[in-house]
This record gives sequence, C-alpha cells and structure tokens, in this order.
Amino acid sequence: MDVRTKLIRRKILSLDDLPTISNNVQRLLSMLKDQESDMTQVILEINKDAILVSKILKLVNSGYYNMPQNVTNIDQAVNLVGYKRVWEMIMSTTFMDMMSGAEKSILKHSYACSILARDLVNQYQLRASENFQLTVLMHDIGKMVLREYNNATFNLSIKMAHAESLPVYFVEKKNLGITHSQAGCWLLEHWGLSEDQTKPVLQHHDIDADDYIVETAIIQVCDFVDNTVRGITVDKPHQLILEKAGLGQVDFYPMLIEHTNLLAEIEPDFEVLEKSQKSYKSAAVRSNEQRVN
Ligand SMILES: [Fe+2]
Ligand SMILES: [Fe+2]
Repeated sequence: MDVRTKLIRRKILSLDDLPTISNNVQRLLSMLKDQESDMTQVILEINKDAILVSKILKLVNSGYYNMPQNVTNIDQAVNLVGYKRVWEMIMSTTFMDMMSGAEKSILKHSYACSILARDLVNQYQLRASENFQLTVLMHDIGKMVLREYNNATFNLSIKMAHAESLPVYFVEKKNLGITHSQAGCWLLEHWGLSEDQTKPVLQHHDIDADDYIVETAIIQVCDFVDNTVRGITVDKPHQLILEKAGLGQVDFYPMLIEHTNLLAEIEPDFEVLEKSQKSYKSAAVRSNEQRVN
C-alpha cells in the first residue's frame, strides 16, 4: 500500500460516521466466535433482543436461506441452518439493517447477488468458504464508506460512471484515489472479519486473484449478472479467474434471463429493461477488456 492510500485509509477509519455494529450485537457476535461459549446460553441471549429476533426471522423467511418451511422462532432457525451459521445470520441482519435506509439500491443489488451466489455454488458444486453468502451480501459496503468519506465526489463518480458507461470503481479510483472495494475491505477488517471475507471484497473488481479465487469469482459473476440485468455498466469477469475458480464453462446468457425472472419475483418495483434484454446476447459473449486503473 502506497503512502497516499495509507493516509486515506487512516482518514477513513477515523471517521465519526463510519457504519458501526451496536454494542449488544457485538457482544453476541464475540460470544458466537468464542469456542468456549455455551450455545444454548447464546440463543437465550439472542432471544432477549426481540427486535433482533424479528429481523433474523424476516431474513430467514425471505428466501435468502431457501428454507423448506416457514420459520417462527430462533430455535427452529438454528435447527435448520445449524449453530455455526448463527453468527452469519446476525451479521447479515445487521448489514441489511444498515443499508435499508439511504442505501436501498445497494441493498437490492447485494441481496439479489447473494441469492444468485447460493444457487451458483450449488449448481457448479463450488468449494467456497463457509460464510461466502454473507461475503457476497456485503461486497459493496465500501460504497457506504465512500459516501461518508466524501459524499459530493462519490455522487459525482456515480453520475460520471452512468453518463460515460464506465464501471463505478473505475471512476472512483480516478476521482477519490481509492475504490469501494478497498474501502469495504478496510471496514470489514476494522470490524474484525477474517481474511476469507475481507480479501474477496477487496478483489471483487480485480482482473485476477492469487487467493480466495472461488469467492472472488463468485462475487464477480453475480455482480456482472445483476448489474447487466439492471442496465448498469460493469466489467465481465475475466476468463482467467473463471477458469481458476471452476467456472470456465459458465454460460452467462441463461443466467441473465433467469436472473431477470428472479428480480421480477423478489422486487415489486423491478422493471425489465428492453435495452438490457436485447443486450444480453452481446453481454454474454463480450470479450474481456483490461482496464488501466
Ligand atoms: Fe463493487
Ligand atoms: Fe456489486
């Protein structure tokens, strides 16, 4: 990391309005990470927070976990997804809560990407890290950080990217000196998340990756498909990373069609863009472009 980037990182991490996790949730999360914790006790603690419980149940019943039945309490949720994923359930709920205010469009994109990721892992039988679905859900959290860091320039970058049909990260780099991938990684590190989650977030707009290749490629595929369906310019994942991840044979065209149907199902205000539908074929075969940051 060069000196300028280090300075920006320090400035960002000292911001007063950086997204934070409440003390109670932080306490529950560290109890869940502690091998010595009694899980029955932790579940009792979660049940004391009625708002958190209702948020978890809303998420669990939303289709995010593909539950076979309606879930009415935390014990039932834990029985269905397993103890190990309670931490993930709370983190996912916390993230969605943060984004449900001013960042609704990021939340919609992130949520749709995480559903697509779950299906992709199942379809291609990928060996992704345990919390990959949460990683996908949080991959664009850096946009929220950049808004806090420099709202005016971040908004200008979004407008420029749209007007010039460029990926947002590319314009951010030019205007702010860093991208939302970097800012997101720094925030997740600051929260104490492990490398299997922070690294894929950092690399999600890179051409290649040395480690966490499967997780990085999953985000890139989902990001490309969801943004293309929404008519937003984004780079197509590079063939090299797709092959390394076991996704070399992925056929984007049917994925784009299926994802359009998914969005029409889960987003009441989703409008199928005529322009996007027509461009699916060319998007699916578009050659890889190498951007110079
Ligand atoms: Fe992104
Ligand atoms: Fe994204």
